[in-house]
Amino acid sequence: MKKQLLALGTLIALSGIANVAMAQGADGKAIYDANCKKCHGATGAPSAGIKKMNPKIETFDAAFFGKRTDADLVKGITEGKDKMKPFKDKLKADEIAAVAKYIRTLK
Ligand code: HEC
Repeated sequence: MKKQLLALGTLIALSGIANVAMAQGADGKAIYDANCKKCHGATGAPSAGIKKMNPKIETFDAAFFGKRTDADLVKGITEGKDKMKPFKDKLKADEIAAVAKYIRTLK
């Protein structure tokens, strides 16, 4: 009986750990570094070279975010814009939400 209780306790503890890991969800920074950094730069400021090729690319700063809601960011990333290809087939919805949240921390 004691052994069974112990096993049950371990099971509950383990499922708790799994829940925490799942609640954290997609890693916005890892997704950004893998998919976005090459154009938008590590800190959300595009390099001069990228800016020359894509004059419309903006720095992720307070002015940029002031003009956009979270839904706008998700839409832009999902559907793409001009030279930026859509990410709807590359990233899952929760990954797009995570990366949209992450870019707000770059400003
Ligand atoms: C090939 C280069 C490239 C990559 C890779 C790229 N972007 Fe962009 N992104 C651009 C360019 C260029 C624009 C400006 C488009 C325009 O306004 O004409 C832009 C615009 C945006 C915008 C603004 C959209 C709007 O509402 O005006 C957001 C947000 C954004 N990118 C996020 C991301 C995120 C997040 C990723 C990675 C998942 C990413 N981008 C990957 C080039 C890129």
